[in-house]
Amino acid sequence: MTPTPDSPHSPETTDTPRTPTLPRVSREVRLAAAPDGLPRAGDFAVVEVPVPVPGPGEVLVRNRCFHVFAALRTLIGGGVEGSPFPALKVGDTLFGTAVGEVVAAGSDNGDGGPRVGETVSHWQGWREYAAVPAATCRALGDALPDPVAPLVPGWTAYHALTGIAEVRTGDTVFVTGGAGSLGSLAGQLARHLGAGRVIGSTGSAWKAGRMTAGLGYDAVVVRGAEPLAEQLAKAAPDGLDVVFDTVGGAELRAALDAARPGARFALVGALSGQLDSELRGTAAPVEIDTFALIVKGVTLRGTRATEDPRAHVEWEERFGALLRSGEIVLPYERVAGMDAAPRALEEVMRGRHLGTVVVEL
Ligand SMILES: NC(=O)c1ccc[n+]([C@@H]2O[C@H](COP(=O)([O-])OP(=O)(O)OC[C@H]3O[C@@H](n4cnc5c(N)ncnc54)[C@H](OP(=O)(O)O)[C@@H]3O)[C@@H](O)[C@H]2O)c1
Repeated sequence: MTPTPDSPHSPETTDTPRTPTLPRVSREVRLAAAPDGLPRAGDFAVVEVPVPVPGPGEVLVRNRCFHVFAALRTLIGGGVEGSPFPALKVGDTLFGTAVGEVVAAGSDNGDGGPRVGETVSHWQGWREYAAVPAATCRALGDALPDPVAPLVPGWTAYHALTGIAEVRTGDTVFVTGGAGSLGSLAGQLARHLGAGRVIGSTGSAWKAGRMTAGLGYDAVVVRGAEPLAEQLAKAAPDGLDVVFDTVGGAELRAALDAARPGARFALVGALSGQLDSELRGTAAPVEIDTFALIVKGVTLRGTRATEDPRAHVEWEERFGALLRSGEIVLPYERVAGMDAAPRALEEVMRGRHLGTVVVEL
């Protein structure tokens, strides 16, 4: 790759006002050992590598923050067939959504690509500097008032609740994983869309308190406390109209049992399979009596973040307005520095945080 005036390590970089001086070395988090059960911080290593030189069609991004998310467990555990993401092997650098500033550009970047100085989101988190194909960078304007907001795939929740399960005024909505990154937005969004009653699930009593106090939930069921069916019967005595499911397994089953006639389920995630220390992959087998679903005319539909690109654009505008007006809050916890990232991932997988967890560099 031929360095261009904007590329790192060329003398011009220090003379160009918009291009900061670049270090020689970048740090990143790699999988260091194949975990037995749920990963621990010691299964990862923070290593130093040369700052990459962007090739043709690439830009060099200095990451400012990246998302620490539980679904990495599935990829660390060998991945699953049909997933859009590759399995992570020992020695691989972790990846995930990041926000950063373009600090250099390779050749052949075209006229429409991100420019030096521009803030972008992309998929190469867990490293300080990333050479990213310009075409896969998303330039961030000022639609979202919070720098962490672009890290959260909230449009998935938006699409699931408006396009798949179609929340209607007065609906009783159940959000499994209601304190997670997606769930903590989905509960508030359901309320904003007119739900009459919003119920969430979590694994911790302290989170249940935070969820009812500030995240739009009327009631919360807690995994591992009383049987879920009994808790749901108390929380939603008349049953559920809409379910936004990020957990699957026993929580999905309890929700199906509590479904009202015509209930709509949007299946979004599989945390119970992904985060079970005894299991690998995404399945969390449960028995479902489908006869009751047939009789009640219940609809179940899965959805992916990439399903409706329009939802992304629409969501960004709506989310920005909702955050500015204070109608929705974005709960997140900041973790400082690359060295703290492996521990943060261990903790996210064990449910120790609420909302989105972000490493700030
Ligand atoms: N369809 C799509 O396009 C799409 C897009 C994004 C994400 N997803 C999926 O959506 C799901 C949620 O993603 P996210 O980023 O919001 O998750 P996240 O915030 O990373 O989830 C972490 C939370 O999972 C909960 N958890 C831990 N162990 C659990 C267990 N055994 N059973 C159930 N929950 C457990 C914990 O919360 P509590 O202690 O509060 O339970 C923990 O804080 C994931 O399955 C992800 O793959 C799908």
